[in-house]
Amino acid sequence: MTSTTNTAIALLLVLLVSTASPARAQFSGVATDMGAGQKRAAVCFACHNANGISKIPGTPHLAGQERAYLEAALHAYKAGTRQNPTMNAMAQPLSEADIRNIAAYYSLLSRTPAR
Ligand code: HEC
Repeated sequence: MTSTTNTAIALLLVLLVSTASPARAQFSGVATDMGAGQKRAAVCFACHNANGISKIPGTPHLAGQERAYLEAALHAYKAGTRQNPTMNAMAQPLSEADIRNIAAYYSLLSRTPAR
């Protein structure tokens, strides 16, 4: 085997382990609570669905979305730098912990759930 192949296999293993491991919920050393995220996200389910796959046209799917992206989007809606009347109102009452937990919750859902 070439060293390029070995490197590719090592990278693949690291990826597999990091996506399969529950340690993924520990991101940049900040504690998150998936259960709390799911609870807090109940108000979001009407539009984004509990499984993160929206059935409403024009409403984005959140399942499996990049976690840091979800946090950034919620911060932007809360601050008003990203404008959408619905989401500005929805993000307003969210605390930092809420945003972290909700982002963790949706990011770990499967993009292609059994429907
Ligand atoms: C009444 C329907 C509705 C509710 C309730 C709702 N959303 Fe949204 N959400 C939307 C729509 C519509 C958009 C697209 C807005 C836009 O164009 O920026 C959106 C966008 C988003 C995005 C950005 C997604 C992306 O791909 O950029 C995130 C993150 C999000 N919502 C999270 C939440 C969370 C968390 C809650 C609950 C606290 C919530 N939403 C509640 C309708 C809703």
